[in-house]
Amino acid sequence: MSYSERLPRNRTYLMCPPEHFTVEYAINPWMDTTVGVDAALALKQWTLLHDTLLDLGHTVHVLAPQPGLPDMVYAANGAFSVDGTVYGARFRHPQRFAEAAAHEGFYTAAQWSFAGPVHVNEGEGDFAYLPGAYGGLILAGHGFRTEPAAHAEAQEVLGRPVVSLRLIDPAFYHLDTALAALDDRHITYYPEAFSPASQRILRQLFPDAVIADRHDAEAFGLNLVSDGRHVVLNTEAVAMADKLRAVGYVPVPVELSELKRGGGSVKCAVAELRPGAAPGE
Ligand code: ARG
Repeated sequence: MSYSERLPRNRTYLMCPPEHFTVEYAINPWMDTTVGVDAALALKQWTLLHDTLLDLGHTVHVLAPQPGLPDMVYAANGAFSVDGTVYGARFRHPQRFAEAAAHEGFYTAAQWSFAGPVHVNEGEGDFAYLPGAYGGLILAGHGFRTEPAAHAEAQEVLGRPVVSLRLIDPAFYHLDTALAALDDRHITYYPEAFSPASQRILRQLFPDAVIADRHDAEAFGLNLVSDGRHVVLNTEAVAMADKLRAVGYVPVPVELSELKRGGGSVKCAVAELRPGAAPGE
């Protein structure tokens, strides 16, 4: 595969420290309430991820964690923004309902244009944005958390075409466990996490995608954050890092073993904020 040099773009992210992180309920197959979580280790690993993003030159905002919301560390689920407009989340499970308001408060305080959702959707957990693909394309997952009706709602709110993809494997219950944007127009994904029809759509739209296998997906290797060049991913995803290096990206491994106990990794912990382009850009 040929490629030109992979160029990074400075990003703005939102993260929430795992100060109240526990696994006290199980809403995905990765969560086991009988195994204790090492909260201090979780915070240490999270801090390293936070500092890694800063070291790469990105801006990271921090959302105040709230007691009683142990999954709040998975900040990607709180909203989805495209060009200055924010489509708010509405969580599937009652244990996470209150997280949506915390995220809404962040965006409204920072004067973003915020649209509250009618339909259930879990923010960037199930939405990805490719600004350089087909003039700006949203990929959206459904099947476990986000409702298909929310895909249509996001399309109306954000004014970008939304391609609905059906997830079929409960281990990969959010789009961001099975697919990731590597830069403005390239993706990587694990085909078998999607229905045959959705696999066909992905092949048609992204013939040059980096294809991951089950082992990569189970190591949470697709749950990555890329700035277009540097790809921050879980240390366990060694084979995935090799695949990305082979096509010109620079893998940046971070250890995030404790957050995996809640069913998430790098991407789940990082929401990308996409402000509108400044005039003339
Ligand atoms: N325990 C959380 C849940 O099941 C994990 C969320 C992971 N976040 C993500 N963006 N995939 O809702």
